[in-house]
Amino acid sequence: MKVLVTGGCGYIGSHACVALAAAGHEPIVLDNFSNSNPKAVGRIEKLIGRSLVVYQGDIRDRLVLDCIFEQHRIGAVMHFAGLKAVGESVAKPLEYYDNNLSGTLNLLAAMRAAHIYRLIFSSSATVYGDPLTVPISETAQTGATTNPYGTSKHMVESCLRDFSAANPDWSITLLRYFNPIGAHPSGLIGEDPTGIPNNLMPFITQVAIGRRDTLSIFGNDYPTHDGTGVRDYIHVQDLVEGHVAALEERGNVSGLHVYNLGTGNGVSVLDMVAAMNKVLGRELPVRIEPRRAGDIAQCFAEVDKAEKELGWSANHDLMDMVEHSWNWQQRNPNGYQS
Ligand code: NAD
Ligand code: UD1
Repeated sequence: MKVLVTGGCGYIGSHACVALAAAGHEPIVLDNFSNSNPKAVGRIEKLIGRSLVVYQGDIRDRLVLDCIFEQHRIGAVMHFAGLKAVGESVAKPLEYYDNNLSGTLNLLAAMRAAHIYRLIFSSSATVYGDPLTVPISETAQTGATTNPYGTSKHMVESCLRDFSAANPDWSITLLRYFNPIGAHPSGLIGEDPTGIPNNLMPFITQVAIGRRDTLSIFGNDYPTHDGTGVRDYIHVQDLVEGHVAALEERGNVSGLHVYNLGTGNGVSVLDMVAAMNKVLGRELPVRIEPRRAGDIAQCFAEVDKAEKELGWSANHDLMDMVEHSWNWQQRNPNGYQS
């Protein structure tokens, strides 16, 4: 099946293209390269062993979408394109609502006009806000978001729920990612953040490679097993396999489907540092700092639903995630600019 992958040159989208091709599908990419590097295209092509059709354009541009849908018989859309930096979203809410919400509505209207009724949307565990209990199930309350990025994801989910109710012949799947890390084992594609990384894993690998001096650990007084924040890190390879499973298991089942994509395991910041120290064979320099504003103590997924209905579960363990992140960083010390 031809699958339009919006944001297909970004961190997760690039891995999704490779997983789709491996499963016998044909990814067609639309990306405006606002947060990715065109060099990713050649790397993906190397991994899939053939050329990749890429449109440089914006999901908010209806003409581009109509043109793609006219030129290709697209069977489904995996929608990764969007802005994702929490801090930036607080400073630039309009840009986030425009890109993430208006962009998705524009995509949906173009899909409807082209009679394409299968959509897989990149949502986030951020829609759960600060969870009342862990592990978090898909039925947990959503919407108590703490920043415009999270709110934009929750708004898109709400729009898609209403749209699904009015268009019951569509198959719409919301995938709520926990914390994707890791990289393709080849080290050819991976996460390439611009500026100072906000997220833990890229910060750790940049300290390890010498691009940053010290890892700041934001708080060691949380009610967790060692006082540091606990998250559900998931290997990006497992995450994109979850998308392929969603496409294959739910793409022909109409309605709105919601799944957590996580491992179900809680890993603390200190657990992550210990894993990295093991891979490096040396101690990463760290410093305890005050808590980061807006952070929660712990967040990890209940994963039974995806296991039961998609026949999917995460296979990679924490050491794989850390080794592959480090492999990518070592092979590409300055990301795709290397
Ligand atoms: P990314 O920034 O690496 O990839 C997004 C891609 O979309 C980039 O290539 C960017 O250039 C492109 N893009 C952005 N706006 C666009 C637009 N208007 N038109 C066309 N292309 C556009 O991010 P990622 O980590 O790969 O995340 C992919 C999706 O998953 C995002 O929607 C993100 O919110 C969601 N998500 C990511 C995480 C995470 O930790 N990485 C967690 C939960 C959810
Ligand atoms: C962040 C976002 C969230 C997004 C998620 C996945 C915030 C408030 N939330 O969540 O919306 O969905 O990323 O992309 O930004 N940490 C350190 N030092 C660092 C970086 C992080 O100690 O330099 C700690 C954090 O305090 C946290 C853990 O590491 O306990 C994970 O942080 P991070 O990778 O930013 O992910 P989230 O906080 O889950």
